[in-house]
Amino acid sequence: MSFRTIIEPFKIKAVEPIRLTTQAEREAILERAHYNLFLVRSDEVIIDLLTDSGTAAMSSEQWAGVMRGDESYAGSRSFYFFEETVRDIFGFKHVIPVHQGRAAERILFALLCKPGCVIPNNTHFDTTRANIEYRGGRAVDLPCPELSDTTAPHPFKGNMDTDALERLISEVGAENIPLVMLTVTNNSGGGQPVSMANIRAVSAICRKYGIPLYIDACRFAENAYFIKLREPGYADKTPLEIAREMFSYADGCTMSAKKDGLANIGGFLCTNDDALAQQEKELLILTEGFPTYGGLAGRDLEAIAIGLREVLDEHYLEYRLASTRYLGEHIAREGVPIVQPPGGHAVYIDAGRMLPHIPPLQFPGQSLAVELYRLGGVRSCEIGSVMFAQRDPDTGEERPAPRELVRLAIPRRVYTQSHVDYVVEVILVAHRHREQLRGYRITWQTPFLRHFSCHFEPLSPPSL
Ligand code: F0G
Repeated sequence: MSFRTIIEPFKIKAVEPIRLTTQAEREAILERAHYNLFLVRSDEVIIDLLTDSGTAAMSSEQWAGVMRGDESYAGSRSFYFFEETVRDIFGFKHVIPVHQGRAAERILFALLCKPGCVIPNNTHFDTTRANIEYRGGRAVDLPCPELSDTTAPHPFKGNMDTDALERLISEVGAENIPLVMLTVTNNSGGGQPVSMANIRAVSAICRKYGIPLYIDACRFAENAYFIKLREPGYADKTPLEIAREMFSYADGCTMSAKKDGLANIGGFLCTNDDALAQQEKELLILTEGFPTYGGLAGRDLEAIAIGLREVLDEHYLEYRLASTRYLGEHIAREGVPIVQPPGGHAVYIDAGRMLPHIPPLQFPGQSLAVELYRLGGVRSCEIGSVMFAQRDPDTGEERPAPRELVRLAIPRRVYTQSHVDYVVEVILVAHRHREQLRGYRITWQTPFLRHFSCHFEPLSPPSL
């Protein structure tokens, strides 16, 4: 007998109380935080969907691993357990621990990215783009054409446009492309998966021109499960077998264990290139730590190694994708425009379509994110022109991002279905009075990654 209801495949052993603020309190908090949700304190948030990164609940087995952690400076037992696990799943020769994903990016690009070089990706995440640009390189997004229609339910909208990759290589020359990256799932492109066929095709192009392929592996298990569900030929394979095949087409990877490592901190950089690995370890020692801990405690290495096994459990992945889909479907059927189909770790509301009266450079996504916090204490994240507007190098003029999205990222194993029902209710109230939402203006900003700290001002006071 099988039942329709997909349950959370875990019991709760420790709980963390939520402080329930009032709307009046939240309005004062917003003013103090300059309407930037990164500047709001977490105990002022009721449901925190800012990110799925580092926010997972660890299992009892992971906490047991924390106690077992070997904190030796060199040759830690926990490192060898971590290395063995990463090698078994990802298959790369060299495994370099780092404190989080962006540290892997910084080390990789410090060695491979020279001024003027070009690095293609299906869609660069913001830290990836910033690390490339910081080195004087050009980060180019090559998403497949299906991604631009947020309403089309294509199964693998995270794919890279392989024709565009071929064109780019012939335009700039393979010698100016030190590596190609593929982000699974495509976070900035709506959390959409990349198909095995696409990974294989991108890999074949890279091999033809002698360019290494690196996978940004943050959400590799969710991507593997989408392949199992949606790609012909994979229904009978385990997520582990699928993950192994995905990485077999690449030369290395960067990983933030704060996502599909089910850990609260950590990451790694992998490569099959011996000479490069040696240089990477030298840089690692400079800023992260000795190669058998790389900026992490032994206990973190244990938690990650155990998390990497747990994340590939089929029941976990079934629940994970079902709970994200539940949120997406419940708001979409009431008319809220979302990126279809819902992604693995997040639902993305298309604020550009929901708030057409707010021009992109008045930040419709920011307006919606602020409203969800004001109404219900729900914290989300703008992924639009605040994060990704581009400045024209000649005129200095700002060009809007391709899409104005608000991401509702779901922490792993943290919220129950009634938390999600509450979020649905808050979003539907905001949707009903959407015409009254107003745009924002940035009053202060930094040159890189401005969204983390910039200050906003509402263009006219919220009129509710
Ligand atoms: N690549 C992708 C696709 C990411 O989503 C992130 C982080 C990183 C790299 C960097 O990893 O945070 O460990 O340094 N994404 C988080 C998010 C921050 O909210 O999506 P990190």
